[in-house]
Amino acid sequence: MTKPISILITGASGGIGKALACDHARPGSSLALWGRNAGRLRDVAQICRERGASVLTREIDLADGPMALAAFRADDDKLHFDTVILCAGLSDMKTASEKTERAETVLELGLVNYAVPSALTMAAADRMQARGGGRIALIGSVAAYHDLPFAAGYGGSKAGLARFASSARMALAPLGVKVVLIAPGFVDTDMSRRIIGPRPFLVTPEAASRHIIAALAHNKGETIFPWPFRLLRLIDRLTPGIIRRVIMTRINADQRPRQGDSTKPASKQTA
Ligand SMILES: NC(=O)c1ccc[n+]([C@@H]2O[C@H](COP(=O)([O-])OP(=O)(O)OC[C@H]3O[C@@H](n4cnc5c(N)ncnc54)[C@H](OP(=O)(O)O)[C@@H]3O)[C@@H](O)[C@H]2O)c1
Repeated sequence: MTKPISILITGASGGIGKALACDHARPGSSLALWGRNAGRLRDVAQICRERGASVLTREIDLADGPMALAAFRADDDKLHFDTVILCAGLSDMKTASEKTERAETVLELGLVNYAVPSALTMAAADRMQARGGGRIALIGSVAAYHDLPFAAGYGGSKAGLARFASSARMALAPLGVKVVLIAPGFVDTDMSRRIIGPRPFLVTPEAASRHIIAALAHNKGETIFPWPFRLLRLIDRLTPGIIRRVIMTRINADQRPRQGDSTKPASKQTA
C-alpha cells in the first residue's frame, strides 16, 4: 500500500503543475491545489477526485506575498503538508518591438518566481521541522544559468531562486526538511508556447512531472533536464565572457502576448 501524502502544489491549474497534481492523485492522498484560473483549477480538481484523492483548491495571486503566507498557514493547519511543490511561475521577455523590459513585469516576475516561493519555503519549513520533517521542491529554470539580455527579469528571478534553494537546502537539512531545485529546459505548456521560434529538446509536462517526483524521492539537490541543458550550462561556464556576449546579444528572441491572462483573485479556498 502507498503511504498517504499531504501535498501542496502551486500552479496546479495548468502545465507542469497539473501533471504533478494528476500524478499525486490517488486514494489516501490529500491535495491542496493553488492557481488563479478558477475553471482550470476546478477541472484539475475533478480529475484528481476521480482518481480517489481528497482535494482542496485555492484561487490565489502569488504576486501578493502576505496573502500567500496567510493562505499557506490556513491550508497547512488543515492538511499538515509533508510535501510542498512550488511550481507556479510566469515567464516574460522583451518583444522584438520593445526597447526595454516593462518595469511592472520585472517586478511581477521577481515576486511570483522568486520572492514569494522563497517566503513560502521558509513558512513550510518552519511548520515541517516542528512535525519532524518534510520535502519542498522549487521549480526553477535553465534560464537561471545564462545571461539572457532579452529576459533579464525572468532569468534573474530564477537565478535568485536557484541560489535561495541551495542555501535553504544547506540550512534546513539538519532540521529534517529536504529542499530540491528542478530546472527544466523547454516544456510543452502554455508558457513556452508563447515563444516565437524553436524550442529545442522540448519535453512533455508529464515527463517534467516524473523528473520532479524522482528529484523529491531521491532528495537530489539540483535536477536539470533534459540532459543537453546540463551540457549547455557547462559550455556557458567555460566560454569566455566576450564570446558569450557576442552570441547572446545576437539571439532574436520574441514572444506572443500572454493569452487570457487571469484576473487577480482575492485568496479564496474551496473544499
Ligand atoms: N514551460 C517551460 O518551458 C518551462 C521551462 C522552465 C521552467 N518552467 C517553470 O515551470 C513552472 C511551471 O510552468 P508551466 O510551464 O507549467 O507554465 P504554465 O502552463 O503557464 O502554468 C503556470 C502556472 O503558474 C500559475 N501562475 C502564474 N502566475 C501566477 C500568479 N501570479 N499567481 C498564482 N499562480 C500563478 C498559473 O496559474 P493560472 O493559469 O491559473 O493563472 C499556472 O497554474 C514555472 O515556474 C516555470 O517558470 C517552465
